[in-house]
Amino acid sequence: MTSTTPKKVRVPDLALMKQRGDRIVMLTAYDATMARLLDRGGIDLLLVGDSLGNVIMGLDTTIPVTLDVMIHHTRAVARGANRALVVADMPFLTYQVSLEQATRNATRLFQEGGAAAVKLEGGRAVADTVRKLTAAGLPVMGHLGLTPQHVHRLGGMRQQARSESAAHELILDALALEDAGAFAIVLEAIPDTVAEAVTSQLKIPTIGIGAGSHCDGQVLVSYDVLGLFDTFAPPFAKQYAQLGQVIVRAAKDYANDVREGLFPTSSTLSNQQTSDLAGRRVIPSLNDRAFEELKGARVPVR
Ligand code: KIV
Repeated sequence: MTSTTPKKVRVPDLALMKQRGDRIVMLTAYDATMARLLDRGGIDLLLVGDSLGNVIMGLDTTIPVTLDVMIHHTRAVARGANRALVVADMPFLTYQVSLEQATRNATRLFQEGGAAAVKLEGGRAVADTVRKLTAAGLPVMGHLGLTPQHVHRLGGMRQQARSESAAHELILDALALEDAGAFAIVLEAIPDTVAEAVTSQLKIPTIGIGAGSHCDGQVLVSYDVLGLFDTFAPPFAKQYAQLGQVIVRAAKDYANDVREGLFPTSSTLSNQQTSDLAGRRVIPSLNDRAFEELKGARVPVR
């Protein structure tokens, strides 16, 4: 089914999509080229996730990702996105120290990065921050369940809200985020029954990752979907392409061609532009005499 929101996606559209029962589609993006392609593919939201620490920077966790790195990548994605709404993750400990720190750092993601919204991890503990940012005109997406910035406290990347009491706490967190003004909430790695209960209790949409099929939308890491990130494949992700294999094949073919003298060939050279748009020659061909003169020419040393 194609999106019923062909125009540029804006924050209020998401609540309308939930009301209409239109599923929300979100993928991560970290650079302009990928953003342009995913946007053309009809993705509603592009998340500049701090997962770029893992997939782009080769880190084990998202904790070392800095605000400057997030701004750098957000700026690139915002340049590539046309229709999709660009959401930027606030990285580790850039929004917990004080409301002033959170406001200053979120503002940079909007002003310097060109984000249309920010995402931050946590529930009641960050509700005041969500309220403050939203009141200041900075739309906030929440993130509950497995929150990778809390990997050490959680004891690893494992499913959350498994007990009845933990599920109850998560529902209270979700209600607090909605009350504070969050416009959507990512639910990561929780049982689908819990995700279903949260989704039915909230007016704002839920966007699931490893949280079953009852959320109002789904998000995945684009490198998982495209088969680019091959050191770890989360069990809940589906590969829609194996681009990693395509890239390795292309790199091997290119390396082979260069080593064997098969690239560049005279046919690739003759493909180069030899005239401008008005048809004038811009690369004059050399006759044999001119070529010999050029080979023997001495370049004066100044
Ligand atoms: O950083 C990220 O990519 C995320 C998604 C997994 C939701 O937060």
